[in-house]
Amino acid sequence: MFFPSSFLQEVASRVSLVGVVGRTVKLKRKGSEYWGCCPFHHEKTASFSVSDEKGFYHCFGCGEHGDVFKFVEKAMGMTFPEAVEYLARQAGMDIPRAAPEEYEREKRKTGLTDALEAACKFFEEQLQKPAGRQGLYYLQQRGLTAETIKKFRLGYAASGNALKAFLTKGGFSEDVLKEAGLISKSADSASFYDYFRNRVMFPIMDKRGRVIAFGGRVLDDSEPKYLNSPESAVFSKGDNLYALHLSGNPARKKQEIIVVEGYMDVIAMAQAGIDRAVAPLGTALTEKQIELLWRYAPEPLCSFDGDGAGQKAAVRAAERVLPLLKPGYSLRFITLPDNMDPDEYIKAHGKASLEDFLQTQYRPLFKQLWQMLLNGRDLSTPERKAGLKKEINEWLEKIADQDVKHYYRQEFKTALQKLFMPENGSAFTANPTGGFRKKKASGKKLIPERGTEEYNRFWSTPVSHPSVVAENNETRMLLAYLLMYPDVGGEFLEELTDWQSSCEKQEEYLSFLIEVLTAAPDVSAERLKEHLRLTNRLQIYDALSAELEMLYRKKILPTEAKNDIAALLRGMHKKNLRSELLRLAEQIADADGENAARLWERYQSLLKEEKETE
Ligand code: UTP
Ligand code: MN
Repeated sequence: MFFPSSFLQEVASRVSLVGVVGRTVKLKRKGSEYWGCCPFHHEKTASFSVSDEKGFYHCFGCGEHGDVFKFVEKAMGMTFPEAVEYLARQAGMDIPRAAPEEYEREKRKTGLTDALEAACKFFEEQLQKPAGRQGLYYLQQRGLTAETIKKFRLGYAASGNALKAFLTKGGFSEDVLKEAGLISKSADSASFYDYFRNRVMFPIMDKRGRVIAFGGRVLDDSEPKYLNSPESAVFSKGDNLYALHLSGNPARKKQEIIVVEGYMDVIAMAQAGIDRAVAPLGTALTEKQIELLWRYAPEPLCSFDGDGAGQKAAVRAAERVLPLLKPGYSLRFITLPDNMDPDEYIKAHGKASLEDFLQTQYRPLFKQLWQMLLNGRDLSTPERKAGLKKEINEWLEKIADQDVKHYYRQEFKTALQKLFMPENGSAFTANPTGGFRKKKASGKKLIPERGTEEYNRFWSTPVSHPSVVAENNETRMLLAYLLMYPDVGGEFLEELTDWQSSCEKQEEYLSFLIEVLTAAPDVSAERLKEHLRLTNRLQIYDALSAELEMLYRKKILPTEAKNDIAALLRGMHKKNLRSELLRLAEQIADADGENAARLWERYQSLLKEEKETE
């Protein structure tokens, strides 16, 4: 006789374990658990505990342990099917006549999860053996501790077909392994080979911790970076979230769950003590995943990468959640500075700074939508304005919950009023905030001005952690070029002063080089070095030794340096413009009439500038 697991769960949830046990054992309540003398071994003091909440009994004397079915089997001498029938009758439920195909499906699933579990153990063991040395080295390089590796059950898949050999020897059929996505066969090859090779393995568990799939990461930068198991009877990627079995409880306790893009982000955060992060499995958030998240916290916080792909993911999540919105439930969004992902952010700024950023810098869904709407939008004609309104209406139509929809309509209305205020007021002509870039007396221009609240908010490092260092790779390259060809840099003095890095040290180097270049725009590399030596600043060469070595090895010519510097500067300028536009869009939604008008004018002129630079 076969019973579907959903049926068994239903039976167990309808009968009280305490009630069933209480019929044969005298129980006494202590807190949320009941205690009595163990019926399975002889004792005088109560060491047998029963908990309805956990659904288990446990004897601390003899170690007997089980659920309500097992208790009835053991205590009343029944077979499993008898116990199920007995309890189902008590629960007032009919015994299902299991459809044979359902039985087959369940059995097959069990076969798959057994194979996946065995594979997971195998990969874990391989990681600790000579065959997995590279993998272990890689994970250590990325800063993972042995404890973290164990907790996430990370492993290694070497080259060859070791997994297939091991598992078939262990009694798993090729059919099962294939269905589990562990082996594969190309059209022209005669036999199956291991699906994962030369990869660090990240097992993917369901919310109860059973292995249902893997993600495997290459050790170099070949493609694809992560290879995921194909979908199977036990794995559908849109229904699960990475690490939910570990992060679910902490998330529920804190009423906060964080959605990040990558496995490594989840792991780095957990290692740093932020234990409530999960990740989708290589796709955009699905409706199922959103509903799943809501079981843990009402406003999951999506921290997607600042790059194009990450922002697209945010847009998709924001649109997808609209039909699902209900009172009290939403999504929140956050973008980390400098295109960093949480893993990189922790390395650069530390855990405390990330927590701080997460708690203070998120956008509620409304703001996210507003930003998406205004992003790069030109609203200079009536038709374009109407176009904006139309898009808002389309979004509103997607919101199914009438109350939520009502409030969204109101918020959009208010925001639009502020946005279009310039038409009505005289404030339109005034622009007292001046241009986008303002020259500071010191010569170095910053956007927004360093030390201001916006600067901190926008460029990351929260005020409370002023000393942390976030190295920025573009800045490293730029500095290296300047050291190699300062005279080429001298031609870009104006643009250089716009450059900024969130790393104090880099800022210091840059300011110093700009100072020298201002005084002597055509200074040679030798003269510069001499000057740096005299002023005790030679360490700048050490700090950039890797980049300098690369440039020398590539024998970069002055003309090439000029192109590269120009490209770096263009990139930074664009990034600055984009950030400023997004910041303005957000501010406009908050500002009152006159300020909104001013910000709006600025927004338009920056937008124009952005169009021209393309
Ligand atoms: P990222 O490329 O941002 O990966 O992809 P990451 O987490 O920063 O990886 P590291 O730090 O370089 O190791 C984010 C997520 O997208 C999925 C994976 O789930 C990954 O964690 N992905 C990415 C794939 O499924 N396949 C790929 O080829 C790349
Ligand atoms: Mn990463």
